[in-house]
Amino acid sequence: MTAAPSPFLIVAIDGGAASGKSSSSRIISERFNLLHVDTGSFYRALTAGMLRAGASPTDLPTVQAALAALRLGTRVTGRSAEMEIDGRPVGDDIRSRAVNDHVSHFAAIPELRAALLAYQRGQADVARAHGFRGLVMEGRDIGSVIFPDADFRFFLHADPAERARRRANEGQHDSIVERDRLDSSRKTAPLACPVGAISIDTTHVTLPQVVEQMATAIATKLAAP
Ligand code: CDP
Ligand code: CDP
Repeated sequence: MTAAPSPFLIVAIDGGAASGKSSSSRIISERFNLLHVDTGSFYRALTAGMLRAGASPTDLPTVQAALAALRLGTRVTGRSAEMEIDGRPVGDDIRSRAVNDHVSHFAAIPELRAALLAYQRGQADVARAHGFRGLVMEGRDIGSVIFPDADFRFFLHADPAERARRRANEGQHDSIVERDRLDSSRKTAPLACPVGAISIDTTHVTLPQVVEQMATAIATKLAAP
């Protein structure tokens, strides 16, 4: 008799800017053989595309026209899913000041979020096709909207001053508080801890400790009969 195949695992990690989502997701992806999907990079890539096309977040027809013209693809590099636009991988400009300043404005537009919904859910097929055991997806609405039935849902948060210090350490100019305000107050898929998610305050906790807490929760549930 052959053993039943392991079930496909979905881990959702949400939280505000610099709460520790990307660093912890990368390590969790290695520990459990998961595809790492950073949906913030998708919103950033679309924002860079919108700016290149001359679209404005206050002028919906320009956004819709730009969206209709973009062809989205995915390239897997190592364990990470990276967006391709019109066959080209996104560049470093997704971390530029212009993108930092505009991304939350474009991300608040329901039509733009709707355009990304199927693409994000489709990352599960990308993970399967590349032989991963599942995926770990990070963002703002993964446990609430994209995969509300995820096997594991975590919500990371930390004091704004500590998060600003982390971003400054990375040499980035980023209005974290303003982005959080916009992300939390929008009507569609606002940033919030989903009901039932495991909430972790990372202010005074090291990255390895955060990862240990997540990995223990995952391993404990996986080991349960
Ligand atoms: O890395 P950081 O946490 O600063 O931001 P990010 O994850 O790269 O996300 C950039 C922006 O994309 C956020 O401030 C949100 O406006 C938007 N976003 C979103 O609306 N929904 C997601 N699932 C992911 C990102
Ligand atoms: O993805 P997100 O914007 O939520 O945060 P990140 O890019 O994973 O983390 C931002 C910075 O904070 C990185 O340099 C992490 O190493 C650091 N960090 C930390 O010092 N302590 C933690 N508990 C989590 C992250």
